Order: sequence, then structure tokens, then C-alpha cells
Amino acid sequence: MDINTGKIIISGGKPLEGEIPVSGMKNAAVAIVFSTILTEDKCIIENLPDISDVNVSLQILESIGVKVNKLDKNTVEIDSSFVAPGIAPFDLVSKMRASYYLIGAELGRFGRAFVGLPGGCDFGARPIDQHIKGFEALGCDVKAEGDYVEATAKDGSLHGASVYMDMVTVGGTINVMLAAVKAEGVTVIENAAHEPHIVDTANFLNACGADISGAGTDVIKIRGVKKLHGVTYTIIPDMIEAGTFMILAAATGGNLRITNLIPKHLDSVTAKLCEMGVEIEEEGDSLTVRRKEGPLKKINVKTLPYPGFPTDMNPQMCVLLCLAEGLSRLTESVWESRFRYVEELKRMGAKININGRCAEVEGVPYLKGASVRAVDLRAGCAMVIAGLAAEGITEIDEIYHIFRGYENLIGKLQGVGADIKVVYPKSLQYIDYE
Ligand code: EPU
Repeated sequence: MDINTGKIIISGGKPLEGEIPVSGMKNAAVAIVFSTILTEDKCIIENLPDISDVNVSLQILESIGVKVNKLDKNTVEIDSSFVAPGIAPFDLVSKMRASYYLIGAELGRFGRAFVGLPGGCDFGARPIDQHIKGFEALGCDVKAEGDYVEATAKDGSLHGASVYMDMVTVGGTINVMLAAVKAEGVTVIENAAHEPHIVDTANFLNACGADISGAGTDVIKIRGVKKLHGVTYTIIPDMIEAGTFMILAAATGGNLRITNLIPKHLDSVTAKLCEMGVEIEEEGDSLTVRRKEGPLKKINVKTLPYPGFPTDMNPQMCVLLCLAEGLSRLTESVWESRFRYVEELKRMGAKININGRCAEVEGVPYLKGASVRAVDLRAGCAMVIAGLAAEGITEIDEIYHIFRGYENLIGKLQGVGADIKVVYPKSLQYIDYE
């Protein structure tokens, strides 16, 4: 079935209950999969989420000669012994944002890279000037012309340098780290991003023999090494998927035990949900989230780089604010245009006014089912939450965005009692997806 033509159909209004597992983290997986190029060896990556962004990343690697062997749904052996720096097909590279890691990884391995400009969700301008600034500091000539970036080490190899990031950038931090791992000398990245996927990528590289310290803090120090070797490595759980399920429990008035997560990564989400009056219990690697009696309380939320409230939880949180009593404010401080989903929520009866980078959300007693679009990945998942919390039937179009980042979402939700299915068009009728 062509996922581009499917629709999600939800019959909402039922509290969800039971246990729901979290898969491996998308944004760590895509960085680590491209990082394997640096090893010139075989790596086995475990807990890899079975999602289209990861599968496209693996196809990009295959297109430049990497041997990819899926051992099971969530484990892959990647052999990058015989890669040649090549032009990955533009139609693949432009499907996802994280293909920009190919630039750092190819530079780190070959001292040159020629890569199509990345795609990904549309949140307004998504520049990569900080990545380029870092590569230039390491001794590269970088040309970004048309749809391609061409980077070449001026004297054949990269040299350690000090790189100050003008803003906190996840991709910029990881990409410079990849280019610097095998550079001569020491690289220092200042004002580095702190996200857990940066720590996971550094841990993976260190397990391969790299010398990276400070990942997870403002300053990351990378001492160049000559060679990396292969390893078996397990990806950390996806904090955004976990946070999405936490909001789902609160929005549907349900009781979910969310397993296979790292509670610390969810501190900001837990804090804001507790402020709203949601009950959260931590036990080992699980969180149980349930809605207390009575209405949800209004709150103000501002998205920030980690450990602040994640921008990738903005749309999901907005759905919950729609169901709280009173006027809440949700301020977006990472992406210039993250509120494109608001028009879709309004179709479901939401009362939201956008004032610059702030969504003023007036709580409503209930949302009602409607036909809506998944305008991007996280927004799409927010529509799923809204549909499950709403009264009546919700139909979601353009659902390929959702499957870029959530593994087996439909099956996981059905497992906790959701009435949700995907249908595909057959002539003019829709048939159920098995
Ligand atoms: N920025 C620049 N110049 C740069 C790089 C970034 O101006 O060279 C700006 C961006 O325009 C943005 C801010 O800095 O305003 C932060 O961008 P960042 O580089 O951190 O974003 P990213 O690396 O492209 C990753 C995630 C996004 C997530 C952001 C912020 C991956 C593959 N993507 O993007 O995840 O929103 O960090 O946390 O890791 C998602 O998973 O749904 C998703 C969009």
C-alpha cells in the first residue's frame, strides 16, 4: 500500500489504558546510522526504530556503497568498509533533515563531501550556516550552491579548531563532532546543544574508539583519533515518543504505563503536566500517567533547547492546553513557524489565537472529530491525540509525515484500547489496512 494515500480514522472519546512501550530515539538513530561511515568497519545497531526516516537513512548509505543487513526489525548490521564518497540520490537526501549528517561523516572519513541539501519538516527557514562555519574552522572550503553542499579539506585533512555556535543547534553540534572525530588535534565546540541524542551519538563514537568529552554540556572537546572500529551499540529510548504518550494519557483522561524510557529526559514534560494537575508515577524505566478528577489547569509553556520543554512537543502540548480550563500560553522559541497545525486544530473546535511566536489557547469543554491534515511529523501526532480525545470521528490525511518518526503507532495505540485504523483508497472506496 502507498502510505502517501492512506488516511487515519479515529473514533475518539475513550480513555486509553494499559502499557505502551517506547521505541529507540529517531534523532539519535539517524545521527548514529550516518556516523557508522567513520568506522570503516562493521557495526551492529540495536533498538533502531522501524520508521521511514531511519529506513531512508539506510537507503542513502546503501546508495554510497555501505552494506546494510537488517538482522531483525530493530537491529541492523552496517558495514562501511568499502564506501566511496559519492553523490547520494537527491530524491532520498531531500526526504529528511538528518541527511545533513552525511556531510560531517564524509568529511570525517574522506576529507571531502558532496551532498544534496536536506529536506524535513517545514518550520520556516532551516539554515545550516553553523554547520558550515564549523567545517570551515576545521580547514574546509565549503560551497553551498543550488541544492548541493560541497566541502573539501583545503590541505587534504581536517585540523582541530575552536568552534563557537551562535545559537544552540542540535544538528550543527553533531555534524561538527562527526567531522572532528578523526581531525588532527583538538576541537572544542562551545555553546554546544545538550540534547540526549548528542550524548548518545558521542557515546556511540567513543565506543568505536573516539575521544569525545563533555557531551551533554555547553563545551564538547574532541581529540582527533586516527581510526575507529566497529561496535554493537543500543540506541536510547525516544523521549519525544514517550512525551507524546504522556500527553495522550492526560488528553484522553486515561491511565498509561509508558515503558522503556529514561525518566530524566522527560523532566520538563513531567513538570508541566504536574502543573496542569496530571498524576505521574516513576518506577525504574517507566512512567505511569493518569488524569486526576476535575479539569486540567491552564499553564504557560515555552519551548527551549534541552533541558527546556522540547519544541518537538509543542503541537502535542497545544492539544492538551485546548482541553484545560482558562487561557494558556504556548511560546515557541526554537522554530520561526511551528504553528501551521493550529488551523487544523481549529477545525476540531479549538480556540487558539496566534500572537507572534505565542499561541494563546482558550480551553474548550471538548474537541470534536473533523477531517484534518498532518502538516508535519509532530503536528500529525498531535492530530492523533486530538482525535483520540475528541468526540466523534476524526480523519487525518497526509499521514506519511507521522510514520517518518513513530514506530508501529497504530498497533501501539490499538494495544491500549484506541479505536484507530489506517485506510487506503481502492478506487473510490477506502479499505481497511491490516
Ligand atoms: N539554526 C540556524 N543555523 C544553523 C542551525 C540551526 O540558524 O546552522 C537555527 C534553526 O533555524 C532553529 C534553531 O537553530 O531555529 C535550532 O535548530 P537545530 O539545528 O537545533 O535543529 P535541527 O538539528 O535541524 C533537530 C531535530 C528536530 C528538532 C530540533 C530542535 C533532528 C534530525 N532533528 O533539528 O527534530 O526540532 O533539533 O530540537 O535531530 C523532529 O524530530 O520532529 C524534529 C523536527
